Order: sequence, then C-alpha cells, then structure tokens
Amino acid sequence: MDSILVRGNGPLSGQIPIAGAKNACLALMPATLLSEEPLTLTNAPRLSDIRTMTQLLASLGAEVTALQEGKVLATSCHGEINPVADYDIVRKMRASNLVLGPLLARLGHAVVSLPGGCAIGARPMDIHIDALAALGAEIELKEGYLHANARGGLKGAVHEMRFASVGATENFLMAAVLAKGTSVLKNAAREPEIVDLARCLRAMGAQIEGEGTSEITIQGVDRLHGATHPVVTDRIELGTYMLAPAICGGEVECLGGRIELVESFCEKLDAAGISVEETARGLKVKRKNGRIRAVDVVTEPFPGFPTDLQAQMMALLCTAEGTSILEERIFENRFMHAPELARMGARIEVHGGVAKVHGVDRLKGARVMATDLRASVSLILAGLAAEGETVVSRVYHLDRGYERVEEKLRAVGAQIERVKGE
Ligand code: UD1
Repeated sequence: MDSILVRGNGPLSGQIPIAGAKNACLALMPATLLSEEPLTLTNAPRLSDIRTMTQLLASLGAEVTALQEGKVLATSCHGEINPVADYDIVRKMRASNLVLGPLLARLGHAVVSLPGGCAIGARPMDIHIDALAALGAEIELKEGYLHANARGGLKGAVHEMRFASVGATENFLMAAVLAKGTSVLKNAAREPEIVDLARCLRAMGAQIEGEGTSEITIQGVDRLHGATHPVVTDRIELGTYMLAPAICGGEVECLGGRIELVESFCEKLDAAGISVEETARGLKVKRKNGRIRAVDVVTEPFPGFPTDLQAQMMALLCTAEGTSILEERIFENRFMHAPELARMGARIEVHGGVAKVHGVDRLKGARVMATDLRASVSLILAGLAAEGETVVSRVYHLDRGYERVEEKLRAVGAQIERVKGE
C-alpha cells in the first residue's frame, strides 16, 4: 500500500485548480439509469470512487466511457438492465446506494446490497427506505440485500424526512422524477450537490422546483431524455486546499472556488485569522498577521460547517493560540484522526462527539496512519506544517476523494511525494 511522505516547509504560493465534486458526480452518474438516451458529465473528478461507480453501473448494464483522461464521462443505458447491485462492488463505497432510487424508477424493482464506505459510524439506510416507501415501494431486507418493489410503478407523495440526509434526498429525487403525479420532499438536504443533481435532472426533462431549500417539489414525467451537464466544483477539495496556506503561510489561489460553496467554513477561517478574497478565477487565501486563533466548530448539514472538513480544520487548530472545541453532529466516531494528530504532538481530548484541541506551538513529523478519506488529508495538511518528516500510510482512502494531491500541493511549493508500497 502506498504512503505519502511530507516534509514540513515554509510558505506556499501559487494556484491550485479545484476539480468537480466527487459527491455530486457519484449522484449524477446513477441518473443515467433513468433514461435510454446518453448522459454526458463534464468536469468529472478522476478518483477511484468514480471508477467504483463506473464498475457498478457497468454491472447493471449501463455504459460509462471516460474521455479526456476521465474529465468527461459519457454514459448511456439503452439496453437490458440488471436490477441487482452486488455486495462485492457496493461494499467498497456507501454512495453505491444511489442506484436504488433510479433502478426502482426505471424498472419498478431493485435488489441492492447494503453499503460499506468509510468507517465513520453506523450509517444506516432507514431514511432512504422510508423516503422510497412513501413513493409506494415495498422494501425488505434479505441476506444483506434490500429488495425493493413498486408493482404498478411509483406514485408521487408528500414525505418529510426525520433528518436531512444527503443520500436519501438524492434517491428520493431520482425516484420521484419518473413517479406518477406530484411529490414533495420536506426537510430535504440543501447541499450544493443536491442542487447540481436537480439541475442535471431538469436538463434531462425532469420537473423539479425548490432544490437548495428544505422543500423540493417534483412533478413526475413519463420519460427523461439525454443531456450534457458540468459537475459543480468540489467544495470539500476547495476547503481542504484553502487550509494549506492557512496552515503553512503564504498565499494560494484556489481556481474555480466560490464563497457560496464554503460560506460557513470561510466564517470560521476569518475568526481563526485567515483572509479569503474572491477573485475573478476563484478564492485567494492567506494568513492575516499573527498566530492562528482558536475557534469553535459544530458540524451541521449545509449551510452549516461540513463534517467533511472537520478533520482538516482540526489540523489547522492544532497549532492555534488557545483551545478550540469541535463538535461532530453528523457522524459518530469521526475523530479517528485525533490520536494520529496526537502522535505529531497535538494536544486533543475527545469525549464522545466533542474534541477539545489545545493549541501547541508546533507539530512534529511522525509516522501516522490514515483511517478514512478526510482523516488522511488532514494528516497531510498537519505534516506540511510540522517540523521534520511525516509519513502517512494506508493512503488508499485518499485516492478515493482527491485527484493528484501530491502534484497539486507540489505546484504551490510543498515538499510531498508518494512512496509506492507493495
Ligand atoms: C453524504 C456525503 C458524505 C458526507 C455526508 C454528510 C456523498 C457520496 N457522501 O453522505 O461525504 O459526509 O453526506 O454531509 O454524498 N443516516 C441515517 N439513516 C439513513 C441515512 C443517513 O441514520 O438512512 C445518518 C447517517 O448515519 C449520518 C447522517 O444521517 O449520521 C448523515 O448521513 P447522510 O446525509 O445520508 O450522508 P451520506 O449521503 O451518506
């Protein structure tokens, strides 16, 4: 397994291009199951999770061709469709559950293995199941597989989710676009990836209103047609690279970044002493004068502070002046990076879903282990500012969510390389 070697060094400077959003693309790709006509996605990120979704869709009978080195995904699903999403693929990635809604809508039945994904909590499927059941699907769990049936087709309905789940909102949207009649989803997730999916579905002929708010209305149509859709910028990759100059000093422009994607994150950066300026091409980030200040962070659904930036923010706050309190409200068990950061000299106390980070002057390089996708990049960020050398092992998680991370950071002056493992 590969490792990443990082040497702590001085200020960074230059530009980092931000890719299309992994989480948007993983929801957009299954939308191809909804139409016989081709769906082309541009600005796709080149990541192993995208290859896993490609594999899953191929196993269901869809064609996905990566063009322009993977930046364009030409998808099509015009032949016979296999309704079974197999455990061997689904276990690799939780987002595989996003084929459930579209399969049900197109075929009236689906058999989808319960997913795996990052080990950051229980992550059950009950909200997805309730949402699809509201549209008339009968769903049973047998031998690790969800068996979903909508004999006579899905029917529009009003449904309120108990929690604004991102994945369940996406599944409901993709099911409701082909259901008979009108559907209303209340307490819907408002993430930019939901807005992006709604835009794509609309380009395919769906009738959707209210995306980006907590109430989405969908008027079912008989069929969807082909479309070409650009994937929205990855706000998590954006936030991650914005933290690089915040931690190391210097000034970095993140190309393609927009404030509205990371507003609550920018508010915390400002309070910590980091300035963010909107430019014609993206967001320019630099440290204001003096040391980083401690800030408190609570993770929440969008537009709140994203859970997917919590680990990276913790890396910044390890060397802040004072004590920061980070509260994780989306996933239990998402502080696995804390003991690894402690190996680098960080002073962190974790009690349940709350971490207290007491700032130290400087971190020191160490051998650490990546435990999940966002944790692995937080260790790289910490290593960039630490004294000496840091080796982050088990980086296969990293490749699920960050394309060419070494190249992007090296381009702004970081000392980072990949060490190939057996
Ligand atoms: C998506 C993102 C993930 C991000 C998360 C929260 C993708 C591919 N992944 O994941 O990167 O961290 O949003 O912003 O887009 N829950 C239930 N029952 C369910 C579904 C969810 O209890 O049926 C719980 C989960 O355990 C978790 C919380 O709801 O505690 C949030 O999950 P959800 O919003 O569904 O996240 P994902 O869509 O899985």
